[in-house]
Amino acid sequence: MPEDIKVKNCQYIDLKQVVDEKDGVLSIAESNREIPFEIKRIYYIYGLTYPKALRGLHAHKALKQVLFCVNGSFKLMVDDGLNKQYFYLADPNHGIYVGPELWHTMFEFSDNCIILVLSSDYYDEVDYIRNYEAFLAHVRR
Ligand code: TYD
Repeated sequence: MPEDIKVKNCQYIDLKQVVDEKDGVLSIAESNREIPFEIKRIYYIYGLTYPKALRGLHAHKALKQVLFCVNGSFKLMVDDGLNKQYFYLADPNHGIYVGPELWHTMFEFSDNCIILVLSSDYYDEVDYIRNYEAFLAHVRR
């Protein structure tokens, strides 16, 4: 069993899975079903060959996202301003919902890591909080 999640706006996501035995496995994500929002944008992160690569280092004011590791592995840290939680992602069928107002970082990527992100809205830099002190002020307002 995965450990309890103590940060707000964060949850485990399990996709629908169809196992075709020796012909492989299908993982299925649909808007407002497995994914708790309407998906407007998909992006993926790869080429993570630098051992000390660090991504994220921001929070979103309103954006909702679900992160999957569809190849390899990485670690995710989420921080709601009160609590921090660490996740190890290595299974394409299990993702993490990262909702609004969560400072998050991604690190310890395996060489072959591919991160798939499903997002509730289009890219908008105005929705980002990229300074940790500003993030704390935002969540404590
Ligand atoms: P960022 O969201 O900070 O990446 P990560 O969370 O993976 O570390 O984005 C990195 C850069 O890419 C930043 O300059 C904004 C740009 N970007 C877009 O133009 N469109 C997008 O959809 C995303 C996710 C990023």
